[in-house]
Amino acid sequence: MTGIPAKGRDRASILADLTARKHGDRDWRRGRLAVYFYWLDEELERVQQEAYLAFWTENNLGQRAYPSLKAIEDEVIAMSLSLLGGGGRAGGTFTSGGSESIFLAMMAARNKARAQRGVRRPNIVLPNSAHLTFDRAAEALGIEARRVSVGADLRADVAAMTARMDADTVAIVGSAPNYPFGTFDPIERLAALAVERGVWMHVDACVGGFLAPYVRRLGHDVTPFELSVPGVTSMSADIHKHGMAPKGASLLLVSDAADREWHKFESRAWQRGPYAAYTTQGTRPGGSVAAAWASMQHLGDEGYMRCARLIMEAKAIMTGGIAAIPGLEILTPSDLGIFVWRSVDPTLDIGKVAAAMDAEGWLMGRQQEPDGIHLHLNPIHREVAEEYVEAVSRAVAAARSGTTARIGANERTY
Ligand SMILES: Cc1ncc(COP(=O)(O)O)c(C=O)c1O
Repeated sequence: MTGIPAKGRDRASILADLTARKHGDRDWRRGRLAVYFYWLDEELERVQQEAYLAFWTENNLGQRAYPSLKAIEDEVIAMSLSLLGGGGRAGGTFTSGGSESIFLAMMAARNKARAQRGVRRPNIVLPNSAHLTFDRAAEALGIEARRVSVGADLRADVAAMTARMDADTVAIVGSAPNYPFGTFDPIERLAALAVERGVWMHVDACVGGFLAPYVRRLGHDVTPFELSVPGVTSMSADIHKHGMAPKGASLLLVSDAADREWHKFESRAWQRGPYAAYTTQGTRPGGSVAAAWASMQHLGDEGYMRCARLIMEAKAIMTGGIAAIPGLEILTPSDLGIFVWRSVDPTLDIGKVAAAMDAEGWLMGRQQEPDGIHLHLNPIHREVAEEYVEAVSRAVAAARSGTTARIGANERTY
């Protein structure tokens, strides 16, 4: 078993060791990954690294000690609320990632329904395309998650969701967009249903929050999903996704700041004095907040428009190219930069196509339903869009020749 070394090591040897260990990793800067990363250029990378280093060890739990971090965090929340339809009463919480934002939203919905409606056996109703992190949160919070099949249009089926709601429903969920298909749920209709039933409505805009408003400005049709839609209670929006910040940055935004109190923990039940937190974390990295703020300041609306344009151009090239290859089909609709392609030729095994692509160094995202290949685009994919289509073409030929291995739909899906 590896133990802590008896003697400490010098800085240079440690860095050399770490760099060497990266040898087998995929080269995400070259756009070969279908998932996990967001990258624009070296200038943004430098801005983020320097901003992170400027607050590299400051603890964001201790805002008494670091008023600068409180001000930076407040600005990140204010900039995001102004982008995402927050009105005068809106508020937000900076979290470690989409999963934490969603956990807090579900906790708040449960606590509010328990306090105001006496709900003891809470359930949430969500489309089955919603991220599985809702189920993880539900499990931890003692909530039943009721997943409802999406319609043929790959969007939440509002009538079917209505049918699964009852007096113990504490929240309903819509994605903007969901991860499996990249489609937006009908947020306005879901929010109206939430108003009618008096339940919490959460919009999961972890993927779309910092992309959809700009894609809309480019002229694409994007359904209203913002906090300004009547009935939307909360929204998760990840700065570490299309906000283009380094990992560890998401927001839980609420239309009414008073609702933040439902996910607050506060106690004096120990010797040390009062302890309070709005997040599941205690100690929080100041660097994440500084780097998120710096990313937003560096890119500005102009930079985010550039990202949106690159993504939508890459999508047009890739989907057009793939659809032109005999035997392949693009699943529709898909609203932003996530899409799925698959084989519609029974003699063409998509698992073999995936394996042939993987052998060329493309890290593939496999979709289990329908059996296909999933891609989540970020700006760097624009540079490799044509190459990707050529690689698909070669992979199809390899798969047809039968010489390649296969990657099953249940392997490496995420
Ligand atoms: C739609 C959606 N919601 C939530 C999440 C969870 O976010 P995180 O991985 O930051 O916890 C993801 C992650 O991909 C997502 O795509």
